[in-house]
Amino acid sequence: MTTREPATESPTEPAAGAAAAPIIEAVGLGRDFVLTEGPFLRRTRRTVSAVQDVSFTVRTGEIVGYLGPNGAGKSSTMKMLTGILTPTAGSVRVAGMEPSRQRTRLAREIGVVFGQRTTLWWDLPLRDSLTLTRHLYRVPAAAHAERLAELTELLELEPFLGTPVRQLSLGQRMRGDLTAALLHAPRLLVLDEPTIGLDVVSKSTIREFLLKINRERGTTILITTHDLGDVERLCDRVMVIDKGRLAFDGGLPELRATVPTPRVLVVDLVAPAPAIEVEGATTVRVDGPRQWLELADNPARVIAEVAREHEVADLTLREPDIEGVVSALYRGTVPAGDRT
Ligand SMILES: Nc1ncnc2c1ncn2[C@@H]1O[C@H](COP(=O)(O)OP(=O)(O)OP(=O)(O)O)[C@@H](O)[C@H]1O
Ligand SMILES: [Mg+2]
Repeated sequence: MTTREPATESPTEPAAGAAAAPIIEAVGLGRDFVLTEGPFLRRTRRTVSAVQDVSFTVRTGEIVGYLGPNGAGKSSTMKMLTGILTPTAGSVRVAGMEPSRQRTRLAREIGVVFGQRTTLWWDLPLRDSLTLTRHLYRVPAAAHAERLAELTELLELEPFLGTPVRQLSLGQRMRGDLTAALLHAPRLLVLDEPTIGLDVVSKSTIREFLLKINRERGTTILITTHDLGDVERLCDRVMVIDKGRLAFDGGLPELRATVPTPRVLVVDLVAPAPAIEVEGATTVRVDGPRQWLELADNPARVIAEVAREHEVADLTLREPDIEGVVSALYRGTVPAGDRT
């Protein structure tokens, strides 16, 4: 990766080695869309605020998750960071540049993957597609070859380098897209749902790969995902956006603490029975012989008492998962009138 360093001319960059310098700085960032609706002559204009007053800083070396329900404004934010969309309010700087005005130059510093789309050439074998990417980003041939060899090994591309992109499976294509995004050794990787639709094995390959490039090369990663496994495995920090506004910015433990989610004891009784009543727990659901108890107290004591009073076939203790926390947070940030 260092081979390329002298080729970049970035007078606005901080001095090399400036650890934990901000790589993204968004201040009061906003994006409105004006929609024209209704029949001709009675057309009305309505403004949708996709992103409103969003401020955050991402520092070099961080892996930050950008979460939120459908339509929250995640992709719109990502598009403003990469220069595809121009903000209608506030400002954003990425790698010292203004994305919408310096899009081409910024493209040489960042890698972008939108999981829903590919940047590869559909009809070309993956290898040729990746060679074209080299020309696009003006990567010297030797540096390209070296990085391609490295990425081929890490992402196990060898078996399908000669396959036309259109014939690749989703997981293979995603590995190809990640390679294309990283061949020019960007300092920042912006990923919008990179694991969407992938099976468990492919997801895990991609997660481990992302951790590796973050740890070994210090690549900063901003990732949007609906897969909370991605978040738990990858992110030191998460930002939650809801209805265009930033609702949370912090570490996973803090996120968990924001929303009280009790541990749940799942009790399988030998036969159906009325809701279990035991001190330190609340039975929240009964389904045939199975009951769910929310624990307010020491599980060991509750388990002992349940086992003493009832004929138990099986017991499972469920830790609060990040999924529960995030969905509670989404619900919590929605105004009361809108809750379902
Ligand atoms: N080009 C556009 N024109 C009009 N409205 C748009 C446009 N792009 C996005 N929006 C609106 O902005 C809001 C935010 O959309 P965005 O795609 O940023 O959400 P998201 O958080 O990425 O959602 P998802 O999880 O479904 O991908 C939505 O209400 C969407 O309809
Ligand atoms: Mg999106």
